[in-house]
Amino acid sequence: MDATLLSVGNFQPIPFPAPVPLLQALLVIGFLTHALPMNVALTGGLVSAILLLIGGKDENAHATRAGRQLAASLPIFTTAAITQGIVPLLFLQVLYGPLVYASSIVIALPWIAVLFLLTIGYYGLYIYNYGKQKMDLMKAPWILIAASLLFMVVAFIFSNNMTLMLTPEKFLPLYQASPAGANLNLTEPTLIPRYLHFVGAAFAVCALTLGCFGLYWKKKDESFGTWLIKLGAGGYIGTTLVQTLIGFWFFWSTPQGFQTAKTTTHLLNTSFGLEAISLIAMGLAVKKGCEKSYKVGLTAGILVVALMVVLRHFLRLFHTDQYMQPLFNAQPVVIQWPILIVFVTLAVLMIGYFVWLGRTVYNAYNKNV
Ligand code: HEM
Repeated sequence: MDATLLSVGNFQPIPFPAPVPLLQALLVIGFLTHALPMNVALTGGLVSAILLLIGGKDENAHATRAGRQLAASLPIFTTAAITQGIVPLLFLQVLYGPLVYASSIVIALPWIAVLFLLTIGYYGLYIYNYGKQKMDLMKAPWILIAASLLFMVVAFIFSNNMTLMLTPEKFLPLYQASPAGANLNLTEPTLIPRYLHFVGAAFAVCALTLGCFGLYWKKKDESFGTWLIKLGAGGYIGTTLVQTLIGFWFFWSTPQGFQTAKTTTHLLNTSFGLEAISLIAMGLAVKKGCEKSYKVGLTAGILVVALMVVLRHFLRLFHTDQYMQPLFNAQPVVIQWPILIVFVTLAVLMIGYFVWLGRTVYNAYNKNV
């Protein structure tokens, strides 16, 4: 048997509890719920630090207030990113275990380092938030920058693993190069553009979040609210334009068969249309600080992120179908209705819980600002 197929392995001899398309859909939805808060966690430290440095020692400057509020929200976004990361992790392991377990072993050292980097970065956010009253206003932002840089390393390791799992022909040579797992996937041509595309998206989503803070403030403090909406909309436009260029770089680095596939074309055309709508609406929001335009731009922007998540999944299907399709075909499916009912019930209860939690955090925040 060829070495690549040996590296892929097989599923455990346990039937899938639900049909493959349903598990794939849950993987994609799960990743979207991870990606949105993760984007804010990833770049929020840098953005809030820049705002704090711009605001300087003036406690009442709009930039200082915005920087403080974004920094205060980061532990919540990071918690949401971590807990929502478990959802795609579960479905990824069930569906792509033969690939992702192997690639995780091949890059074992950086992969295990994720836990430590994440814990230190997360701790940094709390050091800032609990210690900011006592800290020098100009020194404190550096803790936020350090936390953001640690999360950038975490994201880079994720991109290494997510690209390595797509190319099992590299497993054996990398494993032989370092059986202890001191490997990354640095020879992968899509790695850098893919990673930068994630980082760019994260800045855009962080800008959208600042604009959402503006929607909240508009009723309480008109001038600050309008400033935030304009900042969010302007930041979104700037990062999205850069992001489009990186997106083309990423696209040209992917296999030609993927570039010319009908699904790719449809998904890209729809996202370009939505991107144009979001940019026009955000342009109006920058000019007038208008809430309605901002909300249109926000909705279109989030839909673009969702379509990109679907396109990313299609890229995985494109790469892995040759290895995974025979395994999926051979794998028995026994729908476990009691478990499925418990799963759906718990998912609905959890959404209700999140709504309650969101309200509780919002009310607590209202009391403290
Ligand atoms: C703040 C910390 C984190 C950051 C910055 C981060 C960043 C990322 C990035 C950039 C990707 C996409 C990589 C790519 O496709 O090239 C990703 C994927 C993923 N992350 Fe995270 N992540 C974080 C925490 C976590 C945690 C704690 C978990 C698990 C509990 C997790 C689970 C996942 C999974 C399963 C995927 C792949 C999903 C899929 O392929 O469908 N992440 N993460």
